[in-house]
Amino acid sequence: MADIHLPQHIAIIMDGNGRWAKQRFMPRIAGHRAGVEAARQVVKNCARRNIKVLSLFAFSSENWRRPAQEVSFLMELFLTGLEREVGMLHENNIQLRFIGDRSRFSEKLCEKIKEVEQLTQKNTGMTLIIAVDYGGQWDICQAARQLALEVEAGTLRSQEITPEKFASRLSFSDLPNPDLFIRTSGELRISNFMLWQLAYSELYFTDILWPDFDENELEKALKHYSSRERRYGYSSEQLKEAARHA
Ligand code: IPE
Ligand code: IPE
Ligand code: MG
Repeated sequence: MADIHLPQHIAIIMDGNGRWAKQRFMPRIAGHRAGVEAARQVVKNCARRNIKVLSLFAFSSENWRRPAQEVSFLMELFLTGLEREVGMLHENNIQLRFIGDRSRFSEKLCEKIKEVEQLTQKNTGMTLIIAVDYGGQWDICQAARQLALEVEAGTLRSQEITPEKFASRLSFSDLPNPDLFIRTSGELRISNFMLWQLAYSELYFTDILWPDFDENELEKALKHYSSRERRYGYSSEQLKEAARHA
């Protein structure tokens, strides 16, 4: 399928690990383990398809509400997953970045995150963003706080706060906004993912549970994306006219 129009940035809510495990009479953590394998595959497949940026929502600001045992299993899984996969990521020229509030992570996890970010920072292939303890509201709030500090310090006037200025203080400011948003498991909601950045993303929802999201499912999502007309407020006729003159 070399001829389809590809998104530059894909953002995924990897949902349904718990239900996947439940269907198999297994504990939720078995679903999370299977979810890591699906994440590994999607990273490889997106890199192979020359996707520029892949963002994976791995743990939301609200997921701390889960039972303590599940939370600590997930934190352990991030750490061991990083240790295991960093070599593969680096070999594939992938730049790894984490976004979210790191203040509640263990020192060990923070150190590992710093280490892999540093190791892969010069890589020029796909950028892989892992959103952990991330929330769109947290992101908007931290951007607002930065701007408020600048106003307080007298280096910024409130009239200078534009959407572009605001966006420049958000977590993904140096990257294009997601072109394609994917959520698995049949839930039709954003669950506090990239609230600002998803403003004009194409949304794709599938009933497939995350551990079952394979190459074939990715291709379906890409095909859906390539069939969309993105208008950004223009009329269809205006876009056709512009394409004729391009
Ligand atoms: C997504 O799967 C992974 C995380 C939120 C960490 P879930 O754990 O939410 O799985 P379901 O939605 O309960 O099936
Ligand atoms: C969203 O899934 C967060 C991640 C996949 C990391 P949730 O399972 O936490 O979302 P809700 O609670 O169903 O909205
Ligand atoms: Mg869920």
